[in-house]
Amino acid sequence: MGQYARHVFVCTHGEFCPFDGSAEVHRFLKEAIAARGLKRDIRINKSGCFNQCGNGPMVVVYPDNVWYGGVTLERARRILEEHLVGGRPVEELRYQAPPGPNKNAGRMAAIHAARAAAQPGPSGRQP
Ligand code: FES
Repeated sequence: MGQYARHVFVCTHGEFCPFDGSAEVHRFLKEAIAARGLKRDIRINKSGCFNQCGNGPMVVVYPDNVWYGGVTLERARRILEEHLVGGRPVEELRYQAPPGPNKNAGRMAAIHAARAAAQPGPSGRQP
């Protein structure tokens, strides 16, 4: 047994998951665990990229080795209640992908395009 019963990693430092709200998911889980007095049992950490870019926000729970993709705040609430507190992984939200890197090129391109469109033009004004 490690230092924590469960250790949760949220991809907040990758290039893509933050665009889809991973910082908010991390904050929600961290605050919810603290509010429940579970900080000694469950650790919520920020992490770098899991090589599943475009499928995020990605959340991984160890030692269960359960991966969740596309984690919205609503899904994070279910993961909190059913998995982290209740002890049962949320099977219908479990990330389904082959082992190893799995990137969603279409979503990654859309995020790149959205970021480029949000860049100020040469005049410093938004396009
Ligand atoms: S940016 Fe989150 S998995 Fe790559």
